[in-house]
Amino acid sequence: SVLVVDFGGQYAHLIARRIRELGVYSEIVPAVNLDAVGDAVSRSAGVILSGGPGSVWESRHDEAALMAIESGKPVLGICYGHQLLAKVLGGEVGRSPLPEFGPTEVEVLDHGLLLDGLPAKFKVWMSHYDAVLRPPRGAKVLARSPGSPVAAMELGSRVFGVQWHPEVRHSQFGMELLDNFLSVVGVPRSWRPGDMVSELVEGVRLQVGDARAVAAVSGGVDSTVAALIAKKALGDRLHPVFIDHGLHPEGEVERVLKLLSTVGIEPMIIDAGEQFLSALEGVADPEEKRRVVGRLYAEVLELVARELGAEYLVQGTIYPDVIESGASPGADVIKTHHNVGGLPRDMGLKLVEPLRLFYKDEVRVIAEKLGIPRELVWKQPVPGPGLAVRVEGPLTREKLRIVRHADAIVREEVESAGLSGRLWQYFAVLTASKATGVRGDSRSYGYVVALRAVESMDAMTAKPAELPWWLLERIAWRITSEIPEVVRVVYDITSKPPSTIEWE
Ligand code: XMP
Repeated sequence: SVLVVDFGGQYAHLIARRIRELGVYSEIVPAVNLDAVGDAVSRSAGVILSGGPGSVWESRHDEAALMAIESGKPVLGICYGHQLLAKVLGGEVGRSPLPEFGPTEVEVLDHGLLLDGLPAKFKVWMSHYDAVLRPPRGAKVLARSPGSPVAAMELGSRVFGVQWHPEVRHSQFGMELLDNFLSVVGVPRSWRPGDMVSELVEGVRLQVGDARAVAAVSGGVDSTVAALIAKKALGDRLHPVFIDHGLHPEGEVERVLKLLSTVGIEPMIIDAGEQFLSALEGVADPEEKRRVVGRLYAEVLELVARELGAEYLVQGTIYPDVIESGASPGADVIKTHHNVGGLPRDMGLKLVEPLRLFYKDEVRVIAEKLGIPRELVWKQPVPGPGLAVRVEGPLTREKLRIVRHADAIVREEVESAGLSGRLWQYFAVLTASKATGVRGDSRSYGYVVALRAVESMDAMTAKPAELPWWLLERIAWRITSEIPEVVRVVYDITSKPPSTIEWE
């Protein structure tokens, strides 16, 4: 396998994903945990040093980089990792003459092994203030850009560094570059998540033994796959549970239950809407909303589990959730994701997480192997806290009703225009703004709804969809005529980064 040492970069796990897409298993270990880095380096065939938010001059990470270099295995440094390699090997790192953020053209000076087969110039995604100004002794400079005199380097056909992010889709030839690195590493390309179903089923069987488990299903692909694997392992000792928290988009509960029944999952439905709504009423802070939802979710599940005599809880936690929720201490917590971060750690249930080592695209491969209908596999994700995070600021029942109605209009119109297939998500947000409008002959002061529709591969990055103008106008017209409290509709045209997909 190939190890990714995580220096706290937002893209660290994208690197591991790409390596897996290329057929090689990859794991991530946080750089601050030196013992874990040491162990992982010794069981890996190659090491990648990720990007990170700091400056290499803070130098807390030299040791981790040296471990990788001294292992004698192929090493690739990316962004911060590139600068760190240059620093510990005796090159010069300093303020870039031109900090680069976003698309940047690089010029190849020497293809070496890393850039083999790539054109002489191409566009990549950069994000850095510092740069390698002088390479370490003996290193070849492979490429440069306006702000990076050493945008890529190679030392002894074994140690490589690139200033840009080949793991990000906006970088041209990123996969080819990583593929070249894997050729140097020389491992077989045999990682196939779809072949792992029986192993996963066996894993659950071993963990749970003769006990009972509840599986929290939400209709998302992750929780469905996890529940189905657990069902294969435990039969009727698995109890799927669907908690209706009253925050679902219109029609979502019926849609989900129908799809789940096609794969033989008929969950027990817990109607907890009142409980969630009264706890959330007036809560304004997005992270607090997530915590409230997480806490109640856990309480309800624990209660149900106790009634059913279950000791275990099956969850669809996937690898990025594991990493984002603290396994990677260097990274800033961007959002507390409900299925991990929101659940209290001291729940009285033991967790079964058959998918904790997989990425979303791998889960989808497993889902197809299990015969889960495409409609469910590719359904647009609904965040765990549902519409609670689509009402900006304090949640009220009235606002929830408004956003649900607006969201239903967006969904209906996008779907009947036949565009849903190429969108990652499309929804409405009730913003915290109020604005002036005019209705009939009188001025009115009402809500502003924002429309969001994005294209994305993995939710790590996203770009606003170019929805046809007539469709946007039609949605705006319907929302303002069907929902009198709304006087204005705007379209969100920001990418992620710097925005996130959700507003909260
Ligand atoms: P952001 O807004 O961080 O969202 O760009 C990335 C993806 O995650 C979903 N999301 C959540 N999912 N609980 C979830 O289960 C949450 O609290 C949550 N917040 C965001 C979001 O819909 C998008 O697909």
